[in-house]
Amino acid sequence: MTDVLKGRDLLSLADLSSTELSHLLDVAGSQKRAWGLAGSRSHPLAGKSIALIFQKPSMRTLVSFEVACARLGAAPVLLAGSDTAFSRGESVLDTTKVLERYVDAIVIRTFSQSMVEEIAEHARVPVVNALTDDHHPCQGLADLLTIREHKGDLSGLRFAYVGDGNNMAHTYMLGGALSGMNVSVATPVGFEPKAEIIEQSRSIARSTGASITLSNNPAHAVAGADIVATDTWASMGQESEHASRLAAFETFRVDASLMAKAAPDALFMHCLPAHRGEEVTDEVMDGPQSVIYDEAENRLHAQKALLSVLLG
Ligand code: CP
Repeated sequence: MTDVLKGRDLLSLADLSSTELSHLLDVAGSQKRAWGLAGSRSHPLAGKSIALIFQKPSMRTLVSFEVACARLGAAPVLLAGSDTAFSRGESVLDTTKVLERYVDAIVIRTFSQSMVEEIAEHARVPVVNALTDDHHPCQGLADLLTIREHKGDLSGLRFAYVGDGNNMAHTYMLGGALSGMNVSVATPVGFEPKAEIIEQSRSIARSTGASITLSNNPAHAVAGADIVATDTWASMGQESEHASRLAAFETFRVDASLMAKAAPDALFMHCLPAHRGEEVTDEVMDGPQSVIYDEAENRLHAQKALLSVLLG
């Protein structure tokens, strides 16, 4: 299975089959458990270099990829800000064809999904999406690993997402569909996930026994859920819409009364950064059902496993 993933790209979770996703989570879990045991600190990617291109701000993704590289023995090459790769008007083709002569993989956080698809089309090395406006597959891997750790088998779990129909909503729909989960998404009217990603998720769900349900009712989405997740109401690049979004999303806040509608042992998840008091209350963030810091830690383990299998 590891060989099947060698040399591949990860642009969205839909790039993986159910079996491949499950295998990646197995690798991440076993690497995490083994860390610190004899032999676990070998450097399987020694001599390799990995470009980390960040055209949007990041804390968790950047740090966890840098530490993953260090643990694997690979050299991270950070290209961040407005004066580096893909930011000076040079064509995506030229930049990619040059970069692939230097590095063994390209990890990129940018705005449009079409740009990472264009890079992947040209690159002979694996390309990993570290967040676009449409997808956040690395966060999805970490979150599924976290759910597995707390709930065991993913199949049949009820996953509720409340908030903006953004890249995390898309990622949870695809990851849930691949994992056989029943995903219920509640957004305000006009903030629904993209229709083509809903259809893509439902298509996958038909083959795994999963389900994808959309509504504009947070209480319905959360009723009986095993996991409740949310995300910021104004993502990177939407700061100017902050005030209008606050009004539109006011009844979509995850607070104690909404969590009480979920299963008694439901997890609360947030990929962070959170805007405490907006999409979620302190009481939920800091409460006993919250696994937000486990998710953040698992970014490291999931991405280390990902780089291991993509680079062999
Ligand atoms: N969750 C996440 O991607 O965090 P950063 O934006 O800090 O990388």
